Amino acid sequence: MKTDSPFREIDPQSDHVLVRFEEEDLMLPLGENLAGALLVAGVMPFRHTPVSGAPRGPFCMMGACYDCLVLIDGMTVQACMLQVAEGMKVGMPSADRVHDV
Ligand code: FES
Repeated sequence: MKTDSPFREIDPQSDHVLVRFEEEDLMLPLGENLAGALLVAGVMPFRHTPVSGAPRGPFCMMGACYDCLVLIDGMTVQACMLQVAEGMKVGMPSADRVHDV
C-alpha cells in the first residue's frame, strides 16, 4: 500500500531505477538505503505480523528491530540493511515466514 509520505529524498536529482513493491512499480534512488527509499515513496506497511496481523515498518533503521522485513528473491531480509538496485522485486513476507518480534 502506498501512502502520502512525510519523508523527502536527500537528492531528488540522483539516478533512479525501477523497483517493484508488491504490484506497484516505483522509481527509487539507486544505491540509497532500501527502507528509507520505500518510506520516501510512501510504502507502508512493509509487512504484517503473523499472529495479530498488525502492520510493521522500519523503526530502528540499523538492523536491530526487524520491523522492516521484506521478501526479496524468496528470502526474508531487513530492508534497512540493503541498497536500492535496478529491477529489485520486493514483497511483503508471508505470515508463516516471519515470527512476531
Ligand atoms: S528498521 Fe529495524 S531492523 Fe530494519
